[in-house]
Amino acid sequence: MTQLDLDPHPPAAGPGTAPQGRVLHLRAAGVSLVLDVPATSLPTVVHWGADLGELSAAALDDLVTAGRTARANNDLDVPQPPRVLPEQSWGWSGRPGLSGHRAGAAWSTRFVPTGVHVEERAEGGRLGLTAADRDAGLTLEVEAELLPSGLLRHRATVTNTAGPGEQPYEVAELALSLPVPPVATELFDLAGRWAKERVPQRRPLTFGSHVRENRRGRTGPDAPLVTALGPAGFGFRHGEVWAVHTAFSGNHRTVVERLSSGATTVSGAELLLPGEVRLATGEQYRTPWVYAAWSAEGLDGVAARFHDHLRSRPHHPRLPRPVVVNTWEAVYFDMDLDRLLELARAAAEVGAERYVLDDGWFRHRRSDDAGLGDWYVDEDVWPQGLHPLVDGVRALGLEFGLWVEPEMVNPDSDLARAHPDWILRGGDRLPPASRQQQVLDLGNPAAYEHVLGRLDAILSEHAISYLKWDHNRDLVEAGSGPVRAPGVHAQTLAVYRLLDELRARHPGVEIESCSSGGLRVDLEVLEHTDRVWASDCIDPLERQDIQRWTTQLLPPELIGSHVGASPSHTTHRSSDLSFRAGTALFASFGIETDLTRMDAGERAELTRWVALYKDVRELLHTGVVVRDDDHDPSYRVHGVVARDGSEALFAVVQTGTPDGSLTGRVRLPGLLPRAEYEVTAQEPGNDPAVRGGRDLPWLATGVRLNGRTLAAAGVTAPAMQPQQLLLLRVRRA
Ligand code: GLA
Repeated sequence: MTQLDLDPHPPAAGPGTAPQGRVLHLRAAGVSLVLDVPATSLPTVVHWGADLGELSAAALDDLVTAGRTARANNDLDVPQPPRVLPEQSWGWSGRPGLSGHRAGAAWSTRFVPTGVHVEERAEGGRLGLTAADRDAGLTLEVEAELLPSGLLRHRATVTNTAGPGEQPYEVAELALSLPVPPVATELFDLAGRWAKERVPQRRPLTFGSHVRENRRGRTGPDAPLVTALGPAGFGFRHGEVWAVHTAFSGNHRTVVERLSSGATTVSGAELLLPGEVRLATGEQYRTPWVYAAWSAEGLDGVAARFHDHLRSRPHHPRLPRPVVVNTWEAVYFDMDLDRLLELARAAAEVGAERYVLDDGWFRHRRSDDAGLGDWYVDEDVWPQGLHPLVDGVRALGLEFGLWVEPEMVNPDSDLARAHPDWILRGGDRLPPASRQQQVLDLGNPAAYEHVLGRLDAILSEHAISYLKWDHNRDLVEAGSGPVRAPGVHAQTLAVYRLLDELRARHPGVEIESCSSGGLRVDLEVLEHTDRVWASDCIDPLERQDIQRWTTQLLPPELIGSHVGASPSHTTHRSSDLSFRAGTALFASFGIETDLTRMDAGERAELTRWVALYKDVRELLHTGVVVRDDDHDPSYRVHGVVARDGSEALFAVVQTGTPDGSLTGRVRLPGLLPRAEYEVTAQEPGNDPAVRGGRDLPWLATGVRLNGRTLAAAGVTAPAMQPQQLLLLRVRRA
């Protein structure tokens, strides 16, 4: 670690003063981050992209010089490189990094560095920089870290250092920025809605701002998830891409801004409501982490950096992801012990490993109209408590999991009747109801302690290995405390604390982040939980795309996916079991249908799929996700390749009806170019009779081809019907 302590109160540098500081070059996994860290202003990102190799100090200085912006006629007399925190005091005409004020004053800052801490690591490193604006009475801390995965993350902290008699400083927005070079001309991100989360969208990167704002108080079905910039037409496997993810589960904002100068920056921030963060003397506000991935090879390269990072975390789930049976779409609110035990026996028979009792087990919860908040086992329904079910499930060798929705309350509940003041609201009125429920004010210490106490008691009393943690409504007009001050910021941090506190008290318990399905999917919630429920829609046709795009951020082992009923409960579309199971396979696999009503043939087939999942889960949960760019929109090809290139599993998925009657070729990317591979059909699910009776000649024998050929020329796709898939097992010969 090198520490460069600068004068905490240097003379204010005037425009044009030669910066004296250092140029920092961090490298990891094929990425270089070069930061110009002058003594008199905040740092500038000189380069974020391809690895530049070993560079001498002189070369780095020249790189800074070579990157200096030229001035055009009528420009300001000072150059305006996009600093990590853009400030108007240097002439930046775009969105400032810090917006705020102190009773109308201190609205524009000029931060001057006071200390720089650099930690250079074998792979990557970290910059910690402190700066101050004495006139504004503020200090700033900037943290930027290049992780071993090549993923970059940064965040900022502002502290009010004004004297005690001064007005508080109100933060409207704090966001660090990253520059994106002019080669990026197209913008990609995701949108979506409930049960159709993560729908991709693209547009040309034009002048002005592309602003994605979330005011739902949860990550949302329409969160951008990953905002990617690259040359027109960049795809899964081609095109240089710069991408960011704002890791926050409350209100947030992601902005791509292109100024008339041509400078393009991308930033992510928490979206603060008016007056939500007002710093008294000595108080500070810290932004969420914003993660940034550069890739030379399209969106798959971006996904790989996120996956590598997540998998490198010490708390990443290491044990094989168990086969889950969830009771929701099997029994809904029918809490009948005998029926639930029968379902558990059927679950054990097909090979399930974890049984999750969903909604409906607690007091007054006979439908979704009432009971949220009353976290006591319902004595009327469970005269002997949950024990007979928990014990019965565990006796079958399955882990027991339980559904909770701790942040919520039904007005029709003992809790709401006892503590109406614990409900977030903007005034005397309640916010519009959603699923007949309201949100508990967890920023209120009494409400927080109550919920923590109830969850702790339930976990202490029962042998529970897993919580499905739900959150089924948006936060609307979420005011807290006597003046109904905006409460989303405090609520979001309180939920993270609550999750951490429970995990600390019950270290063996895994937690799933569910929010009306896949509405709380982000990297910060995954610092406090162990998997996400990707969507309430388990129709495999919809799931193909939902999972395809959820893996843009998360690796398969963190994405819950279940085999549901046919017809699907959300879309009423029918599908073969092989399509449902082959879709759930590429995730953290489970079953969510009434197994007791499945006929023996289907149960036997499902048992074979469970066995396949157990066979391939190590590959799927450690390997590299590959998605081929769609050549024919009625096909999707995706797979997972072992990190050492020794094997892979691909799915050739037919989602629609191709225009031509001859099937084309599908390419199997991501294998070692020179290695020879055997490609064969993976059972179950390869039934030519199901596929319409037409056989595919090469499947009878398999083929042996090298990775380069499989990626470039590929193999003939099978003739299938829409909503069918074929699994291909690829093994190094
Ligand atoms: C939400 C979840 C579902 C289920 C129900 C229970 O909608 O996403 O999976 O748990 O709540 O009420």
